[in-house]
Amino acid sequence: MDEPDPITLDFDQLRLVPLAKEHLPLLLPVEHEAYPDPWTQGMFLQEIKNGPSHFYLAFHGDELVAYGGYWLILDEMHITKITVAQPYRGSGLGVAFMAFFEEHGRGLGGIIIRLEVRASNVAARKLYARAGFTEIGVRKRYYAASGEDAVVMAKKIGGA
Ligand SMILES: CC(C)(COP(=O)(O)OP(=O)(O)OC[C@H]1O[C@@H](n2cnc3c(N)ncnc32)[C@H](O)[C@@H]1OP(=O)(O)O)[C@@H](O)C(=O)NCCC(=O)NCCS
Repeated sequence: MDEPDPITLDFDQLRLVPLAKEHLPLLLPVEHEAYPDPWTQGMFLQEIKNGPSHFYLAFHGDELVAYGGYWLILDEMHITKITVAQPYRGSGLGVAFMAFFEEHGRGLGGIIIRLEVRASNVAARKLYARAGFTEIGVRKRYYAASGEDAVVMAKKIGGA
């Protein structure tokens, strides 16, 4: 069956909000649709409390269209998650969200971004390549449940 056309959004109308406990009823169904190994409520609550974590939701009107987070430790950012809600995929929102992270993290002193991506996640690997990341290695059997490898990607965003 053909995928439905993506819903195009006016990116200027997006509202970025830091993750809070009251968002979880909206967030968890999107998370379960998006991942074979979804984060639990407890894992999201941990992100709210975790000092180095910066986790944001993007709303278009009342609609949750994307969310994601990164940790900043010294000058290194680590992307923990980036998710676009299913109806809004394929219209550039993922790339726009990465650009937001990059600007946000650079403003806080980040000079390099690293992430791991499931080797079979073609959409995410394309998104990161489009956002200027390069593949720097593979962690064998990184995902315990499936035994799948992780591809490690990085992008320099500042410094000499
Ligand atoms: C990965 C994800 C965030 C991409 O978001 P998106 O808004 O659909 O991506 P964009 O529209 O910005 O597209 C970015 C690039 O990826 C490509 N892409 C997006 N979806 C794709 C798909 N299903 N298959 C192949 N390529 C795809 C686009 O063509 C584009 O590349 P291009 O500019 O070279 O053509 C989204 O698919 C998603 O939320 N997936 C489920 C959660 C997930 O796996 N997150 C990543 C791991 S944390």
